[in-house]
Formats: sequence, C-alpha cells, structure tokens
Amino acid sequence: MSKKVQLKNGVSVPSLGIGTWMIGDEPEKETKEIEAILTGIRAGMTLIDTAEMYGDGRSETLVGKAVKEYFKEGRREELFVVSKVLPWNAGRDNMRTSCVKSLERLGLDYLDMYLYHWIGNVPLTEVVEGLNALQDEGLVRSWGVSNFDTKDMEKLLKIPGGERCLVNQVLYHLGSRGIEYDLIDYMKDHDIALMSYCPLAQGGRISRGLRENPVVGDIARAHDATPTQVLLAWNIRNGHTIAIPKSSSAVHIKENAASVNLQLTSEDMKALDEAFPPPSCKMPLDTE
Ligand SMILES: NC(=O)c1ccc[n+]([C@@H]2O[C@H](COP(=O)([O-])OP(=O)(O)OC[C@H]3O[C@@H](n4cnc5c(N)ncnc54)[C@H](OP(=O)(O)O)[C@@H]3O)[C@@H](O)[C@H]2O)c1
Repeated sequence: MSKKVQLKNGVSVPSLGIGTWMIGDEPEKETKEIEAILTGIRAGMTLIDTAEMYGDGRSETLVGKAVKEYFKEGRREELFVVSKVLPWNAGRDNMRTSCVKSLERLGLDYLDMYLYHWIGNVPLTEVVEGLNALQDEGLVRSWGVSNFDTKDMEKLLKIPGGERCLVNQVLYHLGSRGIEYDLIDYMKDHDIALMSYCPLAQGGRISRGLRENPVVGDIARAHDATPTQVLLAWNIRNGHTIAIPKSSSAVHIKENAASVNLQLTSEDMKALDEAFPPPSCKMPLDTE
C-alpha cells in the first residue's frame, strides 16, 4: 500500500488508516483485534485513529497492546497514532491531563496527532492555546479538529495559532456527501486534510445498501475488486483524504488495505455521481 496524503507540515501519511471505535470493549476479542490491527499496519495502514472516549479508554489500551507487539518488528516512527480529547476535557485545566492519560494507555511518549473531538463549551481560543501548548511541549507532534463545519473552520482559522490545525475529521461516505457542498473546498483552499470517518457507513443497513447497490457492484466486477473496495477507493480518490475504516477482522483489513490499488475511472465516477448525487445545497454536518 503506498497512496499517501501530504499534510501541511510536510509529513506524509497513508490515505487509509485504521479506525478503532468499538475495539477493545470485549476481552475475549482482544487477540483477534490485536491481530487485525497488526495485519493493517503490515499492509501499510500505519495510521491508527483512536480516542479517549472509545470504551472509556479501552480502545487506547488495546491499541497500546497492538503497537507494543508491533515494536518487536518495527519502529515508532513508522506509525502515525491519532487520539482525541473530549470537549469537556479540552479546557486549560484538563487537556494536558487527558493527553498524558491517553499516552499512558497507549504506552507512547508522544501522539502524532491530537484531535479536538467535537465542539463543546470551552472557548475555541482556549482549546487552540491548549493544543499548541501540547505541541510545543512535544506531547503531540501535530493537532487537528473533528466534526467542524465550514463556519467552525472559518472561526478556527481566525484565532491566532489556529492555522496550526492540519486535519478536520468528519463523516464522509458515498451515501453522505454533504461536505462536498463547501467544506471540502474550504479545507483544500486552506491546506487542511480531510480525515473521513465512517467511510463504510458503519457496517449496518446503510452500508449494506451501498455495498449491494448495482452500480457499485458493476464497478467492482469490472475492476475485479469488491464493493467495499469501491467505497474506499472512491473515498480517497483525490489525494487529499485519509479514510479510517474500522475492522476487527484481519480478512476485512486486508481487503480494505488493497483498496489503494483500485483506480476508479472517470466513467466510474460519473456512474457513482448519478447513483449517489453530490449535494446541490448546504446540508447539516452528518455525524452518524
Ligand atoms: N471523530 C468522530 O466523531 C468519529 C465518529 C465515528 C467514528 N470515528 C472514527 O472513524 C472510524 C471508522 O468509523 P466507524 O467505525 O464508525 O465505521 P466504518 O469504518 O464505516 O465501518 C465499520 C464497520 O464496517 C465493517 N467492515 C470493515 N471492513 C469491512 C469489510 N472489508 N467487509 C465488510 N465489513 C467491513 C466493520 O465490521 P468488522 O469489524 O466485522 O470488519 C464494522 O462493522 C472509527 O472506528 C473511529 O476511529 C470518528
């Protein structure tokens, strides 16, 4: 796997990373989940996304066990570990403590990226100050935000130090294209990468609808690929997007990692646009 996205600070990250929401919750699944993460890393999905929120820290603990295992064969610098601070922990008094606790659970001494999980009550200027202070101290190498719509991004970039934001992580999949109306262009104009969550629509009913769609199926067959790979290849098509599908299955992770080899044609894109039209008006930011 080699498709990369270059961030504003010059660091390159893989366009497919590993999501970890709902991972680490059940002890009997631990071995399988660690194996899935290791399979992803070995296949080039070296970016891992987690959060203090996921399982109240259990996801970070599980990721910590997986990366410790990986360090038997690889180096810290090969990984790009992302975690997130909850809105109510993002104030002056709590953010550093939250970050240090995340690092302890992960068994790491720095995060590659720290995200402000969603907008809460702490003034944005204070959140920005806190994130920059963590970066200056070296506890995090970079930071970004999550669930920010266009107006939120505009507000952020007006704050001194806000320009250090590298990424906005928002929901994006073929069945939810609202951010294409203006957010994606705004982010491109300001060199802020898109990290798309739920790229497989969370694996439920909507996801099945996408994977069983005849247009998606025809494109998959034409490329000798799977419908899931079509959804991921579509997601990361522009070199500006990092998608972070979650899977607890090594087989699924291998399938996902191979999506980077699928090059969709302009005819494929046109057919997908007809089946799943891009937005024609501003829509509220989707979060689930
Ligand atoms: N910033 C935020 O507010 C926010 C919100 C939600 C999520 N996230 C992040 O984004 C990540 C991804 O989102 P998500 O986990 O909600 O949903 P997702 O990645 O769209 O979908 C995950 C589901 O897809 C299934 N799946 C994965 N690969 C598959 C394959 N090849 N074939 C069939 N099924 C497959 C998984 O099942 P198996 O495990 O059985 O493979 C799981 O049920 C999260 O894990 C989290 O890290 C961030």
